[in-house]
Amino acid sequence: MHTPSEKRNTAPYLTFGLFAWLLLTGCTPSLLKETPALPGTFASVRSVLEQNCVHCHGENRLGHMPAFDSNHALTRLIGPANWIVPGKPERSRFFQVVTFSDETPMAMPPSGHAISPEDMDRIRQWIKAGAPTPEGKKIRLKPRGSLPRSV
Ligand code: HEC
Repeated sequence: MHTPSEKRNTAPYLTFGLFAWLLLTGCTPSLLKETPALPGTFASVRSVLEQNCVHCHGENRLGHMPAFDSNHALTRLIGPANWIVPGKPERSRFFQVVTFSDETPMAMPPSGHAISPEDMDRIRQWIKAGAPTPEGKKIRLKPRGSLPRSV
């Protein structure tokens, strides 16, 4: 049955169109947040460090250990100690220690908890890109998951 009033009723189509438009435009930023961070960026290494390192390399660390539980602390690793040599991962102690096999002294994280090749590559690419960190506001890296240690 087609009554004239039914034919003119375009409201459902308009509503659907508006909804689709909102989905395509308004929701795009939230979809982007879910995609993995670009290689070489601070965001791409942040979760690697939060899951594998900052449990030990934060406020409660021993005096001789480098701290890197914030963007500012990470920046301070660039310097004479060669913890991080921007553009040169293979010369950066920070990268070397994550590539060591478990038996090698100073392998990080300590024994039995080697990070995945993908995570290793994230650290490598970030140093290669100059080890960029956001300037200005302090961003704290919070430990995520359980402490990666076996003893
Ligand atoms: C379970 C605790 C623990 C975790 C987790 C851990 N570290 Fe360490 N890290 C240490 C300790 C302890 C030392 C000091 C060892 C020493 O001097 O004998 C150290 C030393 C280091 C050093 C200095 C190496 C040197 O030559 O003196 C670097 C760089 C480092 N860690 C990076 C990392 C990175 C990167 C991660 C994560 C992928 C990580 N660590 C995870 C405990 C930890």
